[in-house]
Amino acid sequence: MPQTIAVLDFGSQLTQVIARRIRESQVYSKIYHFSTPAAQLRADGVAGIILSGGPQSVYSKQAPHPDRAIFELGVPVLGICYGVQLMGHFLGGTVAHSKAREYGHGHLSITKKSPLFTGLPKKLRVWNSHGDKLTKLPPGFRAVGTTDNSPFAAIEDPKRHFHGIQFHPEVFHTERGVDMIRNFLLGVCGVKQEWTTKDFIAHSVEKIRAQVGKGRVLLGLSGGVDSSVAAALLHKAIGKQLTCVFVDNGLLRKGERAAVEKLYGDHFKIDLRVADASKLFLRRLKGVTEPEQKRKIIGRTFVEVFEKSLKSIKGSAEFLAQGTLYPDVIESVSIQGNPASLIKTHHNVGGLPERMKLKLVEPLRELFKDEVRRVGEALGLPKEVVWRQPFPGPGLGVRVMGDITEAKLEILRNADHVLQEEMMASGHYWKVWQSFCVFLPVKTVGVFGDERTYDYVIAMRIVESTDAMTADWAKLPHEVLQKISSRITNEVRGVGRVVYDVSSKPPATIEWE
Ligand code: XMP
Repeated sequence: MPQTIAVLDFGSQLTQVIARRIRESQVYSKIYHFSTPAAQLRADGVAGIILSGGPQSVYSKQAPHPDRAIFELGVPVLGICYGVQLMGHFLGGTVAHSKAREYGHGHLSITKKSPLFTGLPKKLRVWNSHGDKLTKLPPGFRAVGTTDNSPFAAIEDPKRHFHGIQFHPEVFHTERGVDMIRNFLLGVCGVKQEWTTKDFIAHSVEKIRAQVGKGRVLLGLSGGVDSSVAAALLHKAIGKQLTCVFVDNGLLRKGERAAVEKLYGDHFKIDLRVADASKLFLRRLKGVTEPEQKRKIIGRTFVEVFEKSLKSIKGSAEFLAQGTLYPDVIESVSIQGNPASLIKTHHNVGGLPERMKLKLVEPLRELFKDEVRRVGEALGLPKEVVWRQPFPGPGLGVRVMGDITEAKLEILRNADHVLQEEMMASGHYWKVWQSFCVFLPVKTVGVFGDERTYDYVIAMRIVESTDAMTADWAKLPHEVLQKISSRITNEVRGVGRVVYDVSSKPPATIEWE
């Protein structure tokens, strides 16, 4: 295992960003709950500790406090924002409680040489977000940087290798923040850059082989990024011992099943079994219009079909693989909530491994999404898979308004296919978060040649976002929208009108449901 930097989470929304910046410097980072005992960190052999920011005041009743002994482990510590106030509070300094929060840009002047700022200019723009402020340094510390508002914006205890900064180096608004983090890792903690995609793959292959031995592994393939990368990684590790199951729920996009069969069956030569349950799904959805009801039916039927098809091929299989990612396993202390937990889940196969007496294999458990993509690329998955837009588990089931029929799905599939083609052709597909069509069961009047028509409406939903928590409608060039619209009304039978959704999230959601 590579050397680990511990990020103690005090509830900042930016904790995961810190952990990712560390990994972008090719150093392995792990997020720990703020209360983790120092003995645990020692046992894990951490080479350095970063104390995250957090929304509380060190004086508040609910203030999260770490184990004091972390300051006696003999490893370097970097406190960020709330983290530096904790250092002040715990190590004998004074922290002044302030009602007003300092928020936004500040100007850092580096006043003394410090390993944190090696190679950086003396003046930098930095990003602040804090309430309390350090007013007296703890013994052994000295100030190495100031801002207009704070004589102690950057501090250090060179003997114990403790560093503290009042601003946030992990956000892009802080100039050269990434270099400060890298200086801490390489210059202060002295760790090596061993966390690379190549090393990860080599290490995982070993680990999977050691766990699985000669056993057989089953994997539910959805066609999404996570299960695709898990499949490719497992295939590299254990080849023919892997069997993938793909459920055709009848709510897939045009050509989706064929693309999965081609890539995994023909190209990777993975043992791929397709469970065709489209008729069952559509039968159960017949006449159902209420969105939550539809979701429940789709979710339940999925688990049922998946379990049944696993049973039918189980044979000697002992393992079930899942594309669980690191953000799913972090024990979050964030009071703002973890974005990952807000994504509506549908592929809930909880309890299934126990029921079927299968052991779990989770080869992506240590990775953030961007790392998963890099692993996917390195394993030879095409760009269309690795960088594809998110697609909801219930598929087109949340994109046909009102009751779902095969005829409506067919119209939606054809319209959506046109939209995807034009998004790809114009290159906008890769620039937006999601782009898709929604079927509206509303008929409107039109003219086609000399004929009066009475056909359905298709809505285009194209949004920009970074985490799906908030989203804004994409201001695409009118020519692109025009081309999609005219192609849909000309080429897709049953559609008489195309509209563009100009709602943001909130208050609207991305999917229409
Ligand atoms: P909303 O519609 O809530 O969607 O703004 C936020 C993001 O989540 C996706 N989404 C889902 N993903 N299963 C999923 O795996 C689901 O049931 C589901 N519902 C919505 C949606 O596409 C968007 O990216």
